[in-house]
Amino acid sequence: MQIYIDGKFYGENDAKISVFDHGLLYGDGVFEGISSYNRRVFKLDEHLDRLYDSMKGILLQPSWTRAEMREIVLETLRRNKLDNAYVRLVVTRGFGNLGLDMRQCPKPSLIVIAGHIQLYPKVYYEQGLNIITSGLRRPSADTLNPNIKTLNYLNNIMARAQAAAAGAQEALMLNAQGHVAECTGDNVFYVKNGAVCTPPLSAGLLDGITRRAAITLLRSKLKLPVREELFSLFQLMCADEMFLTGTGAEIVPVATLDGKPVGTGKAGPVTKKLMAEFKKHAAANGARY
Ligand SMILES: Cc1ncc(COP(=O)(O)O)c(C=O)c1O
Repeated sequence: MQIYIDGKFYGENDAKISVFDHGLLYGDGVFEGISSYNRRVFKLDEHLDRLYDSMKGILLQPSWTRAEMREIVLETLRRNKLDNAYVRLVVTRGFGNLGLDMRQCPKPSLIVIAGHIQLYPKVYYEQGLNIITSGLRRPSADTLNPNIKTLNYLNNIMARAQAAAAGAQEALMLNAQGHVAECTGDNVFYVKNGAVCTPPLSAGLLDGITRRAAITLLRSKLKLPVREELFSLFQLMCADEMFLTGTGAEIVPVATLDGKPVGTGKAGPVTKKLMAEFKKHAAANGARY
């Protein structure tokens, strides 16, 4: 495996960063997870847009142009000879001192890792996930805005640990007001009476690239209305279907929530159709390398 760090490629054992990097010391940095299918990077420009917004959100001045960053991602995929891959693009604040002051970190670091990820075994795409509601809330925008894809993932990691402890695969997270926000690494949708609903970005969630693709496919291919509106656990308890979206997970059905079946407790017809449309769409679109 060839890993890109700040202008050079390294083998897996030599790909290292400083212990003084604020990405490590403070989770001070941002990242993207990107998928490629059939030697095409899915929604690369959307991921770069989001990364640049995330950098702005943490006052991080990039030392690469967007075109350079785009080419580095494509070159990393070429060097690793991967037809289908998961790319992790990480920008850290860089080398600094032991204090919090970002002015002590003169140069950000850029890391690109191209590998594979399998979030959920295949069986869950047929049977659906079992998920729980975490007691941990997503932070509100005035704490750490969940719209920014930062390296601070402990809120999500602790909620995921609660899911694991309960024998579930994912955890649903509410915002401070009790509205459904998102899962620890995926966005949330439900279907009721032929209409689809997902929380708005103002509920405090990541503006998922797969979420956006799902909304477009639901409207254009499945001809279904999609609403972005606030909802609570009650709507999910009464839903016909529920599914999650994310780069690693793609579209994955939910079978049970807090031990109770959602709808029939199986992957529903809308979810199945969307999964098929998404596969087609992802295989046929994206930046070639
Ligand atoms: C907290 C969170 N929500 C949602 C998502 C889904 O976003 P995307 O579809 O861009 O992968 C992710 C994926 O990284 C995530 O970490």
